[in-house]
Amino acid sequence: MAGAAPTPTPENPANGWGGLFPGSPVIPHGPWSVREGAILFMGMALGRGDELMGALGQILALAPFRHMETPGGRRMSVAMSNCGTTGWISDRRGYRYTDRDPMTGHPWPPLPAIFRELAEAAADQAGFPGFHPDVCLVNGYRPGSGLSLHQDRDERDGSAPIVSVSLGLPATFLFGGIKRRDPVEHFRLHHGDVFVWGGASRYVFHGIARLAPGHHPVTGAQRINLTFRQAL
Ligand code: SIN
Ligand code: FE2
Repeated sequence: MAGAAPTPTPENPANGWGGLFPGSPVIPHGPWSVREGAILFMGMALGRGDELMGALGQILALAPFRHMETPGGRRMSVAMSNCGTTGWISDRRGYRYTDRDPMTGHPWPPLPAIFRELAEAAADQAGFPGFHPDVCLVNGYRPGSGLSLHQDRDERDGSAPIVSVSLGLPATFLFGGIKRRDPVEHFRLHHGDVFVWGGASRYVFHGIARLAPGHHPVTGAQRINLTFRQAL
């Protein structure tokens, strides 16, 4: 049928990032409004996976993945690092943002331009213009690791959304309510998906179910999540 929009597929995504990069296709995008303030852009970062992973490799060379300790003394199953002017950490003293990597004593590596551009474009398209992330928390999930239900509430200004980019193996995202005991919705996040939550959804409890084994051509046997926040 002439002129009909193509049906989104993993190879031909409903790409909301079209036109931002030279030569990138402009494809009509079909974001999924999960609920008020929470929008999933399926496949938005698809086609940029290798570039994102290249930039990530440089970050991890300076600020390697590590398993942080919870304030209660448990080792988190997800490996973490950060880039930006600040970074999120957890240890016996609690959760907080620090301007230096406690492992190296150096400032966190800077936020690469490709990270910033993607996060700002996604926030803008989700209805949160003027989002300027100062941190990207990098989560590395191996099969068997996950993240229990929590709220992101160590950031100063709750009017800024959270922008989350998924790379590699798929995962089941748990999306609950404002109260811990509220019902929890489950949906899958795939390589290249960008999920933005803010506004009425900013303080929703969320988490990641334990990752199933698998192999992904871009990341190998892991899922990488980039979480952008405006923390300071
Ligand atoms: C997070 O809540 O910090 C990470 C969520 C994810 O890995 O998708
Ligand atoms: Fe979170």
